[in-house]
Amino acid sequence: MASPHKRLLVTAALPYANGYLHLGHMAGAYLPADLYVRYHRLKGKDVLFLCGSDEHGVAITVTGEQEGLTPQQVIDRYHPANEEAFRKFGMSFDHYSRTSIPLHHETTREFFRNFSDRSLLKEKREKQLFCEKDNMFLADRYVEGTCPKCGYDQARGDQCENCGSWLNQVELIKPKCKLCGTTPVVRETTHLYFPLGQFQRRLEKYVKERNKRDGWKENVLRYCESWFKAGLEDRAVTRDLKWGVPVPVSGFENKVIYVWFDAVLGYITAGKEWAARQGKKEAWKDYWQGTETKYVAFIGKDNVVFHCIVFPAMLMGWNDGEEEQYVLPENVPANEFLNFEGQKFSKSRGWGIDLRDFLDHFPADYLRYALAVTLPESRDSDFYLKDFQARVNNELADILGNFVNRTLAFTQRSFGGVVPPRRKIEALDREILEILSTAPSNVGNLFENYRLRDGVTEAMNLARAANKYFNDSEPWKTAKSDMDRCGTTIHIALQLVRSLAILFEPVTPQISRTIWKMLNLKEPIGPGFWDTAAKPGLDEGHTLNPPEILVSKIEDKQIDKILQSAGVERSLTPATTGIKPTISLEDFKKIDLRVAKVVEAEKIPKSSKLLRLKVEVGGEVRQIVAGIAQQYEPSWMVGKLLVVVANLQPVTLMGNESRGMLLAANADDGKLSIVTILDDLPPGTAVR
Ligand code: 2FM
Ligand code: ZN
Repeated sequence: MASPHKRLLVTAALPYANGYLHLGHMAGAYLPADLYVRYHRLKGKDVLFLCGSDEHGVAITVTGEQEGLTPQQVIDRYHPANEEAFRKFGMSFDHYSRTSIPLHHETTREFFRNFSDRSLLKEKREKQLFCEKDNMFLADRYVEGTCPKCGYDQARGDQCENCGSWLNQVELIKPKCKLCGTTPVVRETTHLYFPLGQFQRRLEKYVKERNKRDGWKENVLRYCESWFKAGLEDRAVTRDLKWGVPVPVSGFENKVIYVWFDAVLGYITAGKEWAARQGKKEAWKDYWQGTETKYVAFIGKDNVVFHCIVFPAMLMGWNDGEEEQYVLPENVPANEFLNFEGQKFSKSRGWGIDLRDFLDHFPADYLRYALAVTLPESRDSDFYLKDFQARVNNELADILGNFVNRTLAFTQRSFGGVVPPRRKIEALDREILEILSTAPSNVGNLFENYRLRDGVTEAMNLARAANKYFNDSEPWKTAKSDMDRCGTTIHIALQLVRSLAILFEPVTPQISRTIWKMLNLKEPIGPGFWDTAAKPGLDEGHTLNPPEILVSKIEDKQIDKILQSAGVERSLTPATTGIKPTISLEDFKKIDLRVAKVVEAEKIPKSSKLLRLKVEVGGEVRQIVAGIAQQYEPSWMVGKLLVVVANLQPVTLMGNESRGMLLAANADDGKLSIVTILDDLPPGTAVR
């Protein structure tokens, strides 16, 4: 779709600075945004591309608790690491900011105060989940339970990752405190609420209008429709937490602003910080407040509600009362999820590959290309390392690399590295020149319509056609019979090489730069170059540089190495051995195994399998119910030293509470043996 806008503002979701970026993140929001931006820069658009770290919220504090760090230490560890990984991956942000900076606190408080002063926010006393053991309200990720919408059993207090719902924590089924595992109670607390429902009609109109203008993705529209159908409600935008932007309203000084309220405003802060660094303090307004801006927000599917509903409503709320008018997203292209080797990426399960580890093994462009052609644009997609290898070897190396190298090598050999003249044009030449003339607009249209995967595939199709042209023209034969014909073929092939460098720049910028260097072109590929790829752009007589290998093939052993480092053993897949995916040491350390001494044991009436044990663990005696009655006599158990999982969530079995689980070996044929400690160790001793 041709766009009348003069400026393009592009944002990519601000990743939480609570862990390293993995390949799933890159396929969700970042690579698509970068492809889109790089393409538009080549088209000569005035683009501002912003991102940064999301550094507030429970995502950060929970990680701190798990890793023994303060929230500040968490963000100071992951923010620079992620910024660096993005840089290595070739993300072309104009600015990468972070939400812990004072400037961002100011932006957030300015919005919040504005809404409060204009009485947009309502004070309400409502029920929230409170953990009596930890003595705190369980905001957001401090509580997990079953999603009331889709039944996913690890939904968080504010959000279900599985179905993308924005939840009200008291709706969670079987909620559990994330810190201690106990069931929270319901208590009242006062918060300020943003009246989302008040904006529903306008939001529906907004989505409809923008969809009509810019073609929103089906998946995004479906999410929006379902929320509109359910009806938008008031949402609390304050939290009983210490980490975050302090609420700038009297009576609420001890609370912080809800992380999603501040996170979306982080995009604006990033613009402000960018402008200040340019020495043009007000320049951010040209993008954020100009009527000539088109704003596109790239995200992953779990962020749709916040970008299509919450953020636009906040901007509408501001625009209603102020002269300074912010632009609303014209489109919110959200990708689905990328799976890794058949399973969901999971930080907690240690499944997946971190971006920085991957880039230690392979050039970023290889990954960018392989991810680009498998982007989960309309449904979840899979990343397999074997596919990655095949894409790089069979496409990037064998099609693009091969065409560029054979053309340049031929020019060196037969024409002394100088572009030969173009003489008489024949049918084959005409055909490929025709294909070339439409390639930039074909690829470009796909990019403009957010079909980035197809756009990259289409660029590779040009390389395919170029190889076929080379083969069909047989310059190695005409070199012996008709030098003019041979020269014409090579002249045209060299033009194709130049055009391919431009069309591949969005996806493989380093490779394009190398081609450019080999072509000995001085002015780097830059604004306005895209359309020049439709036509020949190399002059006859121009001298080229000696060719170098463009893409090296990936060997099996390189893939095996990274499979191992990711904990994926091809010969030992879960399917063949039943062994579960590898976990990190950190994960294992969460399990508190202790020596426990049996002080009492008895059968549970009416149960053939269960024994009720009283065991001593450290200073306390607790009850554990174990399914070992068919194998062990109660009297024999007394005095034995067992190994128990001491920090397992309590469960109730046939009316008996069990606080912990004893370890036993279970054979497939029903045989069972408890794990016992041979030597006399005090109960409570740690087992590691
Ligand atoms: O889901 C996430 O990782 C969030 N940190 C995304 C925030 S996007 C924006 F609102 F900042
Ligand atoms: Zn759900």
